[in-house]
Amino acid sequence: MSDTPEAARDEHAKLVAEIREHDRRYHGEDAPTISDADYDALRRKLLALEAEHPELVTEDSPSQTVGAAPASGFGKVLHARPMLSLGNAFSEEDVADFTGRIRRFLNLGEDEEIAINAEPKIDGLSASLRYEKGKFVLGATRGDGREGENVTANLKTVGDIPETLPEGVPEVFEVRGEVYMSKTAFRALNEAQAAAEKQIYANPRNAAAGSLRQLDASITATRKLSFFAYSWGEVSALPAETQSGVLKAFEDWGFTVNPLTRLCRSVDEIMSLYREIEAERGELDYDIDGVVYKVDRLDWQDRLGYVSRSPRFAIAHKFPAEKAMTVLNGIDIQVGRTGSLTPVARLEPVTVGGVVVSNATLHNEDEIARKDIRIGDTVIVQRAGDVIPQILGFLPEKRPPDSKPFEFPEVCPACGSHAVRDVRESGEMDVRRRCTGGLICPAQAVERLKHFVSRNGFDIEGLGAKQIEMFYETGEVMAPADIFTLKARNDRLKLEEREGFGELSVKNLFDAIDERRKIGMDRFLNALGIRNIGQQTARVLAANYLSLDALLSVARKAAEEGPESEAWAELTNIDGIGNTAVSALTEFLAEPHNADVLERLLAEVEVQDFDAPAQDSPVAGKTVVFTGTLEAMTRDEAKARAEALGAKVSGSVSKKTDYVVAGPGAGSKAKKAADLGIATLTEQEWLELIGG
Ligand code: IVH
Repeated sequence: MSDTPEAARDEHAKLVAEIREHDRRYHGEDAPTISDADYDALRRKLLALEAEHPELVTEDSPSQTVGAAPASGFGKVLHARPMLSLGNAFSEEDVADFTGRIRRFLNLGEDEEIAINAEPKIDGLSASLRYEKGKFVLGATRGDGREGENVTANLKTVGDIPETLPEGVPEVFEVRGEVYMSKTAFRALNEAQAAAEKQIYANPRNAAAGSLRQLDASITATRKLSFFAYSWGEVSALPAETQSGVLKAFEDWGFTVNPLTRLCRSVDEIMSLYREIEAERGELDYDIDGVVYKVDRLDWQDRLGYVSRSPRFAIAHKFPAEKAMTVLNGIDIQVGRTGSLTPVARLEPVTVGGVVVSNATLHNEDEIARKDIRIGDTVIVQRAGDVIPQILGFLPEKRPPDSKPFEFPEVCPACGSHAVRDVRESGEMDVRRRCTGGLICPAQAVERLKHFVSRNGFDIEGLGAKQIEMFYETGEVMAPADIFTLKARNDRLKLEEREGFGELSVKNLFDAIDERRKIGMDRFLNALGIRNIGQQTARVLAANYLSLDALLSVARKAAEEGPESEAWAELTNIDGIGNTAVSALTEFLAEPHNADVLERLLAEVEVQDFDAPAQDSPVAGKTVVFTGTLEAMTRDEAKARAEALGAKVSGSVSKKTDYVVAGPGAGSKAKKAADLGIATLTEQEWLELIGG
């Protein structure tokens, strides 16, 4: 855990950003990239950190919300009663604790029976269906629990959702439950998607989410979605006094209640039902990931109430992850778009929890070494509602006698360049090994080239991501220098004859390229896309060395002589430059391919010396934060001007901030500035301060 307040704040910010990103991938794109277990671990870490540092809890911390905020495209629905999540139990002991807590809270005697309604935990997405006078009027997703998306039209296409309820139902009634896709429907959908070369869904839950959130409800109608009712939101009256009684009423009203639902009267009964359902799980035509236990008596549910975001009267008893054994046939090394080498296990195909698994992640080389997993081993594979299965370990008795420890390659399998592990600022080795090939590595080249021409790089008009992809595919632009030779090669290329190009646009493109033959040193450095040398670091380096030659001569020396050298120390002594940046820069230069790329590029372009920022400006050395909408200039321009005047531009307000420049729509940052007593300027006042 983080000891100092600053470290805790940094760690908190990192966790929040990470969780938000995973929420977005999961809810916004229906394409999660980590396992549920890893996600839960992240959230637990956040909760633990916030428990220790309560000052870090903000209203919008993921600890205070459930899932992701609604995506755009649908109208928003503020839930009349929030849609909450459930606490988890993983063992019989946790279940006994749950009933014990209820007993204590309600002050019940040892032998007073607590009836518990046990319901399978359906692995889909929850929805709230509002009925007024028996008519379905509004249907919403959970969203962040407080506010969801209006998906009424889509929900109307779901077979188990009646449009009208029988006479005599309460005036207002919100039925809540789970929208899911059966395994049969899921397989059929993916087959059809594959045939039409459309998106393949990773699992039935993602398919259900993706299908429900189609903007065109007629598409949802073609996806066979189903619905189990299990809960409710705002109601004008309840049809029963127990959970099981309400579910019975739901059935009478035409909803489907899960048939494995049972009323249990003791922890023993709960546990035997849990085992029964777990044993049946593989044969069910829908995914479940546990059993939910709810106190049956509604008056007790009311008294028990809620603790933070989950009810005290209910808990989800999760199933352990599903496991299987199979043989590890090989380990492939994949090179990501940023150059990181990821080992992927190639497995003898095996069915784990109803899904055929033939690949699994091995994370990184330390993990392989730590687990001593070798090709030919019989390994245990785990899948926990996951997208990417994991390898837990191997069976020693089945290890082939001639097996050898896996040797992680030290060269990139895509381009043959050295693959190295960074040393972090803390002195630790980074877990990832990365290819240093950069621009010459086919696995990375396209992304690097896109970065090269991007707005903060060479910013060539008419040459964006699309054109780069096209030129890379045809083999006409494989390295940055090739961009500058396009014109000379055009006799042969005849770009004007291609689709999407005309004579004028080709002329404009060549003009735009020529215009960039002169480029500022900081832009140039940033455009190279060297890891850890982004816009900010590039600027600091440029501001310190002023000319590219001066920088390169020190950096080349540092590359040759290593971290103990004077040149290395000179670089790391610069404020804002650490070992990580210097390692990245020297590795880049030490790689002959890169040196070659650089040399070819320098033959085409002229890198201009850095204009030293004015030291006598009124804002030199000051820290500025821009927030809200700026009207006279773009954010990038404002930043560049401020920096040229020697100011530091920061993204967040702290005690170190000198000025906050707030345009219309400025929110929390302006407020924080006011709280801290920091001067807040309008854009106009700022312009006056810096002299227009
Ligand atoms: S009750 C107030 N019952 O699990 C409690 N939830 O972590 C509201 N789920 O968001 C939930 N089956 O998507 C409840 N029989 C069931 C469920 C169930 C699946 C899901 C639901 C909820 C999540 C809670």
